[in-house]
Amino acid sequence: MKSIIVGVIVSGVMVSGSAMAVDMPADGKAKCGACHAIDVKKIGPSWKDVAAKYAGKPDAEATIAANITKGGSFGWKMGNMPPKGMGANDAQIQSFAKFIAGLK
Ligand code: HEC
Repeated sequence: MKSIIVGVIVSGVMVSGSAMAVDMPADGKAKCGACHAIDVKKIGPSWKDVAAKYAGKPDAEATIAANITKGGSFGWKMGNMPPKGMGANDAQIQSFAKFIAGLK
């Protein structure tokens, strides 16, 4: 009986631990995931690196949203990003910009 209780507590901790880990939103994976990940470089910079670039800038979210919309190059020397990624709409772009700016 005692070991069952311990098991329940341990698995509860594991579940809440994984829920706290940051993951890319599902539509982000679909529209951006081929080239971006949260914390590793792929074709483009990791989104945490982008967050660090804009850390402390008051217009971070707006600048990131504008850059996602127009695409091109932003000084990472990794090539060109296609405008709107792989077909993200404006509402998605706003939410990705907010998500990226909020990463630490
Ligand atoms: C085909 C590959 C590709 C796709 C798809 C793509 N990106 Fe990018 N992205 C890049 C590359 C390459 C760069 C870096 C360009 C450079 O060298 O400056 C970049 C840069 C960025 C930056 C940095 C902007 C800055 O101001 O520094 C952000 C933010 C970003 N992408 C977000 C997104 C989002 C959100 C999506 C999905 C809607 C997306 N990207 C889809 C390739 C991609």
